[in-house]
Amino acid sequence: MPRDTPFETMSGFANSFATEAVPGALPVGRNSPQKTPFGLYAEQLSGSAFTAPRTENRRSWLYRLRPTASHAPFNPYERAGLLRSGPFDEVPPTPNRLRWDPLPLPDAPTDFVDGLVTYGGNGDVGTGNGIAIHLYAANQPMASRVFYNADGELLLLPQQGRLRLETELGRLEVAPGEIAVVPRGVRFRVLLPDGTARGYVCENYGALFKLPDLGPIGANGLANPRDFLTPVAWFEDVDERTEVVQKYQGRLWTTTLDHSPLDVVAWHGNLAPYKYDLARFNTINTVSFDHPDPSIFTVLTAPSEIAGTANCDFVIFPPRWMVAEDTFRPPWFHRNIMNEFMGLIHGAYDAKAGGFAPGGASLHNCMSGHGPDRTSYERAVTADLKPHKIENTMAFMFESRWVIRPTRFATETPLMQLDYDDCWAGFAKADLPR
Ligand SMILES: [Fe+2]
Repeated sequence: MPRDTPFETMSGFANSFATEAVPGALPVGRNSPQKTPFGLYAEQLSGSAFTAPRTENRRSWLYRLRPTASHAPFNPYERAGLLRSGPFDEVPPTPNRLRWDPLPLPDAPTDFVDGLVTYGGNGDVGTGNGIAIHLYAANQPMASRVFYNADGELLLLPQQGRLRLETELGRLEVAPGEIAVVPRGVRFRVLLPDGTARGYVCENYGALFKLPDLGPIGANGLANPRDFLTPVAWFEDVDERTEVVQKYQGRLWTTTLDHSPLDVVAWHGNLAPYKYDLARFNTINTVSFDHPDPSIFTVLTAPSEIAGTANCDFVIFPPRWMVAEDTFRPPWFHRNIMNEFMGLIHGAYDAKAGGFAPGGASLHNCMSGHGPDRTSYERAVTADLKPHKIENTMAFMFESRWVIRPTRFATETPLMQLDYDDCWAGFAKADLPR
């Protein structure tokens, strides 16, 4: 059964889509006719500046039952949670390597919004650069409310339990092993088909995620555009009280409508939610010697203004064959100018024999030495290097040009492993000839 069930989708990355849930709802030949079909309200949703180059320009036209502009003022959202935002200055950033046990599911009724827990981030929502990294753990659907993020797009990675996203532009279901991206500003509701859910979120304040250039790889490979799926138009005609919660400049705000704002009957354009099954990633790796830089596993990249230096690269470590000869096959020891936050969807990561559990996380910031733990190292240097397949695993990394500054929660939670450094203890000294 295709993974994109139960909802109809359209194929392609940032294509110019056109879709209508009611025949004849989409205006033909112009975006904003004097009289729209059925009196729908036309609205442009811009994800890039009007004047962005055509290759970067992202916007959609929405045709809805009521204009978004009709709402009462937003008020501060009073429920104190663990959601934080850039600039991240709660605690001084530590140069130490950090690792956390999995985030437990909540005991109290908690939906997706209230279940967001920020581990760290960088940049500033006010200047539109950087990222925030959250985990979520939820046990309640968003019943009579919707959420949107004015501070950036949201990359969602379920780790446990599916998410059903009911958005202004259509519905997606996303399971562990898949990702979804919800653009800045798009209102959505998160339902939990499996009752509970846990996963990771990268909130991207900067330039939109896009597919990386392939250079000498050629025209195909890594994440192929046609495997990205965008929902067809869907709407609900519901005249019931609906809370709208938004994240704006780092804080949550709330207002209440007398109807559901998920009322877009038709839309067209290239700014829309999408999903992707990480199992479709065409993994490319060495067939001779040496482990390539892990950038070879980049799924999506959000560039910064410095060429090749990402605001955020989203990288995965999927199942793959290891065939290199005379090579230390796991990721090597290294120190990096870039900053690396890792998580694990399922299985085990080949550079960590223990301690890095699904639903857990690790953080290795600028110039912090890291790499295989001692057990993994000793195993790799004595391994018989016949072809070997790493199976049943899916680790990922958010890699950013800016130091990922942990939140107070991240540095004080008992989930933090105080003994993480021990995994690199006890390496024997190299043995020079005497
Ligand atoms: Fe690394």
